[in-house]
Amino acid sequence: MMSKLRTLSALLCFGALTASAQYNTLRIPDTLSGTTFNLTARDTFLNIMPGTPTIAGSFNSDFWGPTLIWNKGDIVHINVDNQTADTTTVHWHGMHLPAIMDGGPHQTIPPYTSWHPYWKVDNNAATFWYHPHLDMKAEEQMNMGFGGFIIVRDSAESALPLPRKYGVDDIPLALTDRRFDASNQFVIAPYGDSMLTNGVLRAQYSVPAQVLRFRILDAAIERSYNIGFSDNRTFYVITTDGGLLDTSVALTRLLIHAGERYEILVNCTGQSGTTVNMMAYNSTLPTGGVAGGENFTGGPFANYLGHRDFNILHLVIGAATGTGVTTVPHSLGANVFPAASTAALTRNISISDSTGLPGILGPNAFILNHRLFNIGYIDYHVPLDNTEIWSITNSGAFGHPFHIHDVEFYVLSVNGAPAPAYQQGWKDVIFVPSHQNVQFIARFADYADSLHPYMFHCHIALHEDEGMMGQFVVGNAPSGIMNIAQNSKMKLFPNPTKGMLHFEMEQGITIVHAAIINIRGILQKEVDLHTGNGAIDVASLGYGQYFIRLTDEEGRTYIKSYLAE
Ligand code: C2O
Ligand code: CU
Ligand code: CU
Repeated sequence: MMSKLRTLSALLCFGALTASAQYNTLRIPDTLSGTTFNLTARDTFLNIMPGTPTIAGSFNSDFWGPTLIWNKGDIVHINVDNQTADTTTVHWHGMHLPAIMDGGPHQTIPPYTSWHPYWKVDNNAATFWYHPHLDMKAEEQMNMGFGGFIIVRDSAESALPLPRKYGVDDIPLALTDRRFDASNQFVIAPYGDSMLTNGVLRAQYSVPAQVLRFRILDAAIERSYNIGFSDNRTFYVITTDGGLLDTSVALTRLLIHAGERYEILVNCTGQSGTTVNMMAYNSTLPTGGVAGGENFTGGPFANYLGHRDFNILHLVIGAATGTGVTTVPHSLGANVFPAASTAALTRNISISDSTGLPGILGPNAFILNHRLFNIGYIDYHVPLDNTEIWSITNSGAFGHPFHIHDVEFYVLSVNGAPAPAYQQGWKDVIFVPSHQNVQFIARFADYADSLHPYMFHCHIALHEDEGMMGQFVVGNAPSGIMNIAQNSKMKLFPNPTKGMLHFEMEQGITIVHAAIINIRGILQKEVDLHTGNGAIDVASLGYGQYFIRLTDEEGRTYIKSYLAE
């Protein structure tokens, strides 16, 4: 009997369900709270398919790391320990923080080293996430399972009558999909054949008959999900990526794109003893232009879930908890967004197909501003405290979820019209449909640093890796000496540091002198050396911000700032 069931479930490893399919219990990630957090990146084995375990990777667990719970106003310290054989980075998606704490492609964590960023949590209560962001490796490392949720709480959200019993009536859902090869291993591919909800195939969960809050994240490499329920019930969007909406918005379908988060409320009051499925109604997506709507029958984008409806989560509704929320609140807050008239400038960003670019890319790549990402090139210098409109025009045949680091923005228009009500909140990812224009407004307050850039990119990891990314620094234009292209030949880690500061130069560069200079420009320490890779002991210099200046055999200098704890 058991083996028959196993065979059956092996055959039904796809997200689409038949009546006889076997469900697996949804995994709820552990939580970590407080102000100090330890994340260890490891290779893991995942028992997800019958037979051979799947080699995966994760922080602290088998697949998809712990949920970090932060309070607005707290200073959080994170210890990220990379116990894998690959360099990685950890980006705190949506957080407003200093660029060197951001965990983008510049904050590399080499194998068996650690990184210790810290900052004051300044974001409003909402659902955020963390994930690897290594240049050209985002798809591969996210595909392995590295990532996790961040829940920010604040006093305004806490005062509202919302469900917040984690794992009971407040349930995080990371949506993604994977393809498995014949030996149960993940295939690195933009689209998977099997839906994974919190890393679980054919997920089901028992929930109380009351108002449920789902924190939905599109953690997929590429796919968008058109979310709805099998009984076509109405549900209520209460947050966008970066905070609460002013009022809850009733919907029966919610299209979510890679990188986006929405929290929704689903009223199951009085429904004990029934079941309902949360579904992706992707058969209703256009067959071109929205990720997951296509119906490829062959090639690298072919997948079982393309242009189909499939299950995300089977809900088994049981007795209410007794203390649960039973009505959906309408009024949630009063956001104040910057008015278009306060913008100092408008930046025009183009999205186009790369066809015709000389031989670097495959036929399916897309680009921003007609150029490929170059880690040594800064696209924009944003003056500190500037309020700006970013106007993104997509001339291509495919829609892209555009993401910006550092800020939460407000969408002014989608193709000339106001954004739909459920997008009228703070966001950090916005879908730019094919042949349309999207404009958002954001204020770039705090954290001027002309040496360390923030990124903007398409959140489809494949596109990002292929070069659909740019970067900006906040603060004044760097002087000649702070040459980003030159500095990008130097890797510095860990940053912040407590003692040793390691540098790693591009192949062929030999450093002969290192100087540590404090923020007032006063020389603190100098060392003569002769190496491409080295380390300097900076423990005795004390807490603060410093610059390291390396000089090579030809007299060229490389400068970066670092923080000492
Ligand atoms: Cu979630 Cu730059 O990324
Ligand atoms: Cu981000
Ligand atoms: Cu894209």
